[in-house]
Amino acid sequence: MRSHLLNDTTAEHYRRSVTEGVERVAAKLAATDRPFTGVTVDALAPRITAIDLDEPLHDTTAALDELEEVYLRDAVYFHHPRYLAHLNCPVVIPAVLGEAVLSAVNSSLDTWDQSAGGTLIERKLIDWTAARIGLGPAADGVFTSGGTQSNLQALLLAREEAKTDDLAKLRIFASEVSHFSVQKSAKLLGLGPGAVVTVPVDQDKRMRTVALARALERCRQDGLVPMAVVATAGTTDFGSIDPLPEIAELCEQFDTWLHVDAAYGCGLLASLKYRDRITGIERADSVTVDYHKSFFQPVSSSAVLVRDAATLRHATYHAEYLNPRRMVQERIPNQVDKSLQTTRRFDALKLWMTLRVMGADGIGQLFDEVCDLAAEGWRLLAADPRFDVVVAPSLSTLVFRYIPAAVTDPAEIDRANLYARKALFASGDAVVAGTKVAGRHYLKFTLLNPETTTADITAVLDLIAGHAEQYLGDSLDRAS
Ligand SMILES: Cc1ncc(COP(=O)(O)O)c(C=O)c1O
Repeated sequence: MRSHLLNDTTAEHYRRSVTEGVERVAAKLAATDRPFTGVTVDALAPRITAIDLDEPLHDTTAALDELEEVYLRDAVYFHHPRYLAHLNCPVVIPAVLGEAVLSAVNSSLDTWDQSAGGTLIERKLIDWTAARIGLGPAADGVFTSGGTQSNLQALLLAREEAKTDDLAKLRIFASEVSHFSVQKSAKLLGLGPGAVVTVPVDQDKRMRTVALARALERCRQDGLVPMAVVATAGTTDFGSIDPLPEIAELCEQFDTWLHVDAAYGCGLLASLKYRDRITGIERADSVTVDYHKSFFQPVSSSAVLVRDAATLRHATYHAEYLNPRRMVQERIPNQVDKSLQTTRRFDALKLWMTLRVMGADGIGQLFDEVCDLAAEGWRLLAADPRFDVVVAPSLSTLVFRYIPAAVTDPAEIDRANLYARKALFASGDAVVAGTKVAGRHYLKFTLLNPETTTADITAVLDLIAGHAEQYLGDSLDRAS
C-alpha cells in the first residue's frame, strides 16, 4: 500500500497515474459534442449504488474505466459553448496546472510553517487584487472557498464594527436581487429574522438609491443601527451593477459599512474596456471577488478584501498549538489569523499561474469578449418577436422568456418556458438556467464562455422555441 503514497520513491507511479487521468480528461473534452448527455437521476443512481466501496479495484486504469461510467460520461461540461446556465466558467489551462501542483504539494495555508512561499504568494495576490480595486494602502484580505464565505466574513467584520452589541437592533440593506448568502449570513451571525432590509430595484435591476436613503433614514428614526449596506456588482440573475458611487455616499452619510459583492462583476477588474462600470468599488469597506466566476479559475477560488487590515482581527483566534500570540510579535505571517477556515487549500496558486502565464489583460480580454457577446445576444433577443428580454446586460447575463404568438395566458406561457428548459436539459443539446421575474418564469443565459458564438445563441433560442411550441401543441391536444 505504501506505493500509493506520494513521495521520493513513487515519483514514477505519480507521473503515470496523473498522466493517465489527464489523457482521459483530454480525450473526453475533445470528444464531447454536447454539454450534457441528458442522463436522469434514475438512470445514473443505480450505477453508483452498485459500487462496493469496500471492494477496491487495486488498479488505476480500472478505476478510471469505472469513473467513465459513473462520472465523466455524464458530467455537465462547462467548457462546451452551449453550456449557458449558471455562473460557471470554462477554466484556463495555467490554473488547471496550478491545481495539479497545489494538490500534489498539498500546502495548507493556515500557517507559515505549513506553507512558507504559499503564504507569501497568497498575500501578494491579495495586494494585487486590492490595488486593482483601489482600496488603499491599509488594505488586506484572504482567500476563501467562495462568494458565500466571503460575504459571511465581510458581514462578520461589519457586525463587529457596528455601533451596538445589541444584535436585535442591527440591520443589513441589500437589494431585492442580491445574493441569498446575505440572508444566510445574517442568520449565521445571530441577527433577527427581519435583519435584512430588502431595497427595491429600478427597471435595470439596480438598487434604487432613493429607496435606500429612505430605508436608512427610517432605520435611524426607529432607533435601529444600520450595520452594512451590501451593494452587488453583478447580480446573479441579471448581472446588474448597483450604483456604487451613490451608495458609497449614503454609507458615508449614515456611517455604515459598505460591502460590495463583486463575486460576478470582479472580472471587470481585469477588463480592458469596461472597468468603469464598477467605478465606486474603491470606496468599499469590504469586497467579495470570485475568481472562479469571472477569472476563468477552477472551483474554488474566491477572496474577501478589506479597506482596513485591522478589521480582520475580528476573525482572529490564537491557538497555542497553531498560531500562538507570540508569533505576531515575531512577525510570522499566519494566514489563519485572518481566515474563518483553519486547514485551507492553496487556491491562490491557480490565479498566480494564470497571471504569470497569461497576464491580467489576457483574463480581461476573455471577460470583455463574453460581455460583448451578451450585448450581441441582447440585440438578437430584443429584435426577435418570439421573446421578451428583461434588461440590457451590464455583464454577460440575458434573462428572457418565450412568448408564443397564439397564447395570452401567462400561466400557460410559464409552463411552456419551464417545459422548454427541462426538455433542453434532457436532450443535452444545451443547458440554460431559469429564474422568476415579477412572479413569472423566465429563462437565463449566463455567458461566460468566449467560445460561444452568436450562432450558438441563435441555435439555442430556436431549440427553446421548438420545445415550447411542442409543449403548447401537446397541451392543445390534451385539451381537445
Ligand atoms: C452575486 C453573488 N454573490 C455570491 C455568490 C455566492 O458565491 P459562491 O457560489 O462562490 O459561494 C454568488 C453565486 O452565484 C453570486 O452570484
